[in-house]
Amino acid sequence: MKENLSGKNIGFAITASYCTFKSILEPLKALVEYGANVFPIMSENASSIDSRFQKAEEYKETIRSITGNDIIDTIKDAEPIGPNAPFDILVVAPCTGNTIAKLAHGITDTSVTMACKAHIRNNRPLLIAISTNDALSGNAANIGKLLNTANYYFVPFSQDNALKKPRSLVAHMDLIPESIEKALEGVQLQPIICK
Ligand SMILES: Cc1cc2nc3c(=O)[nH]c(=O)nc-3n(C[C@H](O)[C@H](O)[C@H](O)COP(=O)(O)O)c2cc1C
Repeated sequence: MKENLSGKNIGFAITASYCTFKSILEPLKALVEYGANVFPIMSENASSIDSRFQKAEEYKETIRSITGNDIIDTIKDAEPIGPNAPFDILVVAPCTGNTIAKLAHGITDTSVTMACKAHIRNNRPLLIAISTNDALSGNAANIGKLLNTANYYFVPFSQDNALKKPRSLVAHMDLIPESIEKALEGVQLQPIICK
């Protein structure tokens, strides 16, 4: 796997599922270790809101120090991803229900949805790592739509607490590097539904 990711340019977009923020740090470090160039993007809500899980500025500093790159967090700065086509693949991890709904309906009003629209224009893979309590309710149709859309791939996911949150799904963030590798080959990593 290391060899396949070496030298790849990976856009890594983080949306505002704050409880999942920590779980993407190890996969991010792994991508850098494998020799990928990782370019962070954050939605405006991810970039600006201090949640009970962490302070935005502290988290952003961690992301900058892992990737060695500054963070794109405005629509203006995300737009050139279209004409410049800088990424071999764009990852959205974690991906909120809000962003999934927008992607499924062609809404482009955040830095991350702008990045996705710009990247998809170039006919390259977009990998989604869902993390949302409404995955099997309000967003089920949207996830289904994206599962059946060209160039969309999913990091395998499962119910994170089937008894207390029966509508919730969370991606297995540790599978991000492997999912990227497969998506770059045009293949969805399986099984997509994990235990
Ligand atoms: C503390 C906290 C935790 C949240 N966790 C999640 C989550 O895990 N998944 C999700 O879809 N939305 C979650 N939200 C709601 C999103 O932050 C909200 O829908 C926001 O508009 C998403 O913006 P974005 O998709 O542009 O990043 C959370 C909000 C707060 C305040």
